[in-house]
Amino acid sequence: MNSNYEKSAQLLERAKKVLASGVSSEFRKYNHPHALFYTHGKGTRIYDVDGNEYLDFTLSQGPLILGHSHPEVLQAVHDYSAQGQLYAGQHLQEIELAEKLNELIPSAELMRFCLDGSEAVQTAFRVARAKTGRQKFLRFEGHYHGWLDNVAYGISAPSAEALGDREDPNVFPWTAGLPDSSRADFIVLPWNDLDLVSRTLEERHEELAAIITEPIMCNNGCIVPKEGFLAGLRDLCNRYGIALIFDEVITGFRVGLGGAQRHFGITPDLSIFAKAMGSGYPISAVVGKRDWMELIEQGKVIHAGTMNSGNPTVAAALATIRVLEREMPYDRMYRLGQQLMAGLREAASEAGQNLVVQGLGPMFVTYFGNEGELTDYRDTFHADKGKLNRFIAGLHDEGIRVIGRGLWYISAAHTEADIADAIAASARVLARL
Ligand SMILES: Cc1ncc(COP(=O)(O)O)c(C=O)c1O
Repeated sequence: MNSNYEKSAQLLERAKKVLASGVSSEFRKYNHPHALFYTHGKGTRIYDVDGNEYLDFTLSQGPLILGHSHPEVLQAVHDYSAQGQLYAGQHLQEIELAEKLNELIPSAELMRFCLDGSEAVQTAFRVARAKTGRQKFLRFEGHYHGWLDNVAYGISAPSAEALGDREDPNVFPWTAGLPDSSRADFIVLPWNDLDLVSRTLEERHEELAAIITEPIMCNNGCIVPKEGFLAGLRDLCNRYGIALIFDEVITGFRVGLGGAQRHFGITPDLSIFAKAMGSGYPISAVVGKRDWMELIEQGKVIHAGTMNSGNPTVAAALATIRVLEREMPYDRMYRLGQQLMAGLREAASEAGQNLVVQGLGPMFVTYFGNEGELTDYRDTFHADKGKLNRFIAGLHDEGIRVIGRGLWYISAAHTEADIADAIAASARVLARL
């Protein structure tokens, strides 16, 4: 049992004097029992300054698809960085990485590398606006597309009722400090309702440059699209000349080597890859069909960045993909994930707990509720968030680290023994809840 977080508490007090809230990303504030300080990670384990060990299902919010400190990734980063770090120019592995994405991802005819998901999303919007000559994008309630101004709305709401009319939802800003003008950039709708999107587009398609969606909704729940939803979006975008953008920041290299677009057989015009592509190094890609991305080629759309495609990040991505291609861990990740999902359901049923487990396997969500599976953001308000917090905190004290909103990620490093440990610990916590 982990119960001593004293050194982390002391470091947090020291950090708060110079780092706002002691952290460098908002989400890191919300750990149990407070923001923690870590010393190292290896494979499926991560260790904090108090000597606590955790079996890690957060994978650092998704990137660590091979687990912590994969030796081949570290070696590749070391070797390629020893040659140079950043050239303000091109290098060989950058082409190799682009060729690899082109081979694996159906829509990746042409691409650019960036540093993170947030800026790659904005690049896709710029391309879509430039090509269509229209200004707005359509986004969905509860989806997350980064922290920048025009996507910092519609991520959360005080209650399902507060969201109001499904046809014309109330939209809540996520943060203070947004320019009034950013509110005019988008339309928001509930997800997974093709009929509603279709009716909205009939009236408003002339305003829209793009529809952006997480192809599997992972930022609130872990919800697969309804049969025909993504294909329907594809048809509507074709009909009205709108860019279909898949935000594959989570699904990319997680549901398979070609992302959700290969998994579902729907090819978007533009898409974003980040997290699992780079094993924890800051690299993302905005990829797309040539007739969209060529606007960058033609110099009509500008995309830039001093730090883009530096040696360490490109080497990390190439090595990650090389290991994934060689070991093809996906069948195993699905199997282990589904084993864990089944084990959690069984443990919950034995403990008489209303735990719902939903997802594909490589990622899934746990929450407490009596209303069945989630289909969109509005459904998430049925869940008992207080009980989920107690479950996640209980797991944490048992040495099992899960993302606070109940999201679990499986890596290629997880073993049968890890899954058994996680089920046993969950059973103990569920019995105590
Ligand atoms: C679906 C999705 N899109 C975009 C982002 C933003 O990516 P980043 O945090 O790398 O800027 C995230 C981050 O969690 C995400 O989950």
